[in-house]
Amino acid sequence: MCGIIGIIGDKPVAPLLLDGLHRLEYRGYDSAGIATLVNGRIERRRAEGKLANLRERVEREPIDGTLGIGHTRWATHGRPTVSNAHPHANDRVAVVHNGIIENFRDLRGELEAKGYAFETETDTEVVVHLITDELQQQKSPSEAVSGALKRLEGAFALAIVFAGRHDIMIGARRGSPLAVGYGDGEMYLGSDALALAPLTNRICYLEEGDWVELTPGGAQVHDETGAAVDRPVKQTALSGAMIGKGEYRHFMLKEIFEQPAVIGDTLHAFLNPLGRKVTLPELSFDLGNLPRVTITACGTAFYAGMVAKYWLEQVARQPVELDIASELRYREPPLPEGGLSLFISQSGETADTLGALQYARDHGQRTLSVVNAAESSIARDSDGVLQTLAGPEIGVASTKAFTTQLTVLACLAIGIGRARGTIDPAREAALTEALIEVPSRASEVLNHDGKMREIANWVAEARDVLYLGRGNMYPLALEGALKLKEISYIHAEGYAAGEMKHGPIALIDENVPVVVCAPSGPLFDKIASNVQETNARGGRVILFSDKAGLERLGDEAAYTVELPEVDPFVAPILYAIPVQLLAYHTAVIKGTDVDQPRNLAKSVTVE
Ligand code: F6R
Repeated sequence: MCGIIGIIGDKPVAPLLLDGLHRLEYRGYDSAGIATLVNGRIERRRAEGKLANLRERVEREPIDGTLGIGHTRWATHGRPTVSNAHPHANDRVAVVHNGIIENFRDLRGELEAKGYAFETETDTEVVVHLITDELQQQKSPSEAVSGALKRLEGAFALAIVFAGRHDIMIGARRGSPLAVGYGDGEMYLGSDALALAPLTNRICYLEEGDWVELTPGGAQVHDETGAAVDRPVKQTALSGAMIGKGEYRHFMLKEIFEQPAVIGDTLHAFLNPLGRKVTLPELSFDLGNLPRVTITACGTAFYAGMVAKYWLEQVARQPVELDIASELRYREPPLPEGGLSLFISQSGETADTLGALQYARDHGQRTLSVVNAAESSIARDSDGVLQTLAGPEIGVASTKAFTTQLTVLACLAIGIGRARGTIDPAREAALTEALIEVPSRASEVLNHDGKMREIANWVAEARDVLYLGRGNMYPLALEGALKLKEISYIHAEGYAAGEMKHGPIALIDENVPVVVCAPSGPLFDKIASNVQETNARGGRVILFSDKAGLERLGDEAAYTVELPEVDPFVAPILYAIPVQLLAYHTAVIKGTDVDQPRNLAKSVTVE
């Protein structure tokens, strides 16, 4: 939620700030702004809506300065207006903030009583006045920030500049990520390494509670007690080139088409193709002796976890509990001694998932995370990490992160099955074989792009859409519905097909497309009955199945899409692709903003 960037150097910073904000726009895009120091004075440009509006504003009214901060916003407190847009500033201090200041009401009351006038509805503005109040007491910028930080409750990443001080910029983090970038005669702050990718690949990630003083020549990090500390500077593999759209119209489409490659890369890290064996990294706990695995995540990552529950139960005979992070962290579930808590997150920064991780740690669980961002908070706070190698995912709707999460989770299920002795080497080899084929099968599925566009013409006219699946296809039905609603704004529901007759069947008529994910396998006959029940009520079915399935049931469907025949174990990875393409093409036909759908942000770092 919200992206921040800061640059201190000797070149004009405005174009660089705008460029960095462009790479952070996935974190929020309802308003944006920059502030620089011009002859010691704080100058700001802010605009409502997309970054393009800010660019236009800066073109009309250029802004100088070699030190500056920028922000792209996902509104939490206060509507997305120009006056609520960051940076927030007075004539002494300017601040950009990602996160939520939970005690801002108390602080605001206190500061108003001292005579500070507030101009916005945001929680962030208290930070500006708190620091100013400290500066009034003849403190240096660093002393003032350190004093103000002690008063703040909640989550934040901050970048702060001071009128008259071209030689210093301060950053701070608690609960929200912040990276420090090292350049030549130029230093940077950014919400993530991606924002800084074209500027530098030398990155230091601040730890919880850290704050940092930047000068053009270097950085000094302090921990929350104020003591100077050294944090490692790492080389990132990210480059500016990795985050372009290429010839694709949208990032989402590019990311859908990248799936064969990134699933292949991920498999490479977790499989030994010659030995037909899973190779998990060394972990500090025994996977063969877990009383329970508790899986927690949000949104699409949660649906990946739901597929994992089916796999772990069926393949590894492993007892599993599953919950969304925002529920788990507050319902206070008893967790068994020696249990494993498994967290799934593309960004590794989702506030609820991080909160659930904290709960699990506090309750004596071993923690394992499946994350895409290796240096993220969730990765760093977990006992073990299994990294998805999806590369940067920019489209707000998750696609390649989901299928690479499934890939890692499939390997984990096999690994736990082997450790528990529930699968023998022959079964492991067969499952591994099926996984090894997924990248080439996924390429075959992508050939249906044109067909999915054709079907989308019909779906785009619908007001409601139902998605049905059984077994490990039930989470795919939920994921299909989520994908459609978040980018096309069409109401969609995912159901376990067996639940139809307990309520949702009342919705069926010829205007409600019913998308059915039904590979042939042990549950095919059951779902075939559900398709017939739908047809008998005038419903029109879009059927995703394989050759054998379509031979049996194709006549019952208005549209069919033939997917490769694969081991049912890997089917969820492949069936993700048509549901993604259907959502994508429907959204394009509806003319929505596919990569940046309304009201959403890519990285949800607030509760
Ligand atoms: C939907 C989507 C979201 C995320 C969710 C969790 O397409 O992308 O539902 O899956 O916000 O995000 P991460 O995986 O970053 O924890």
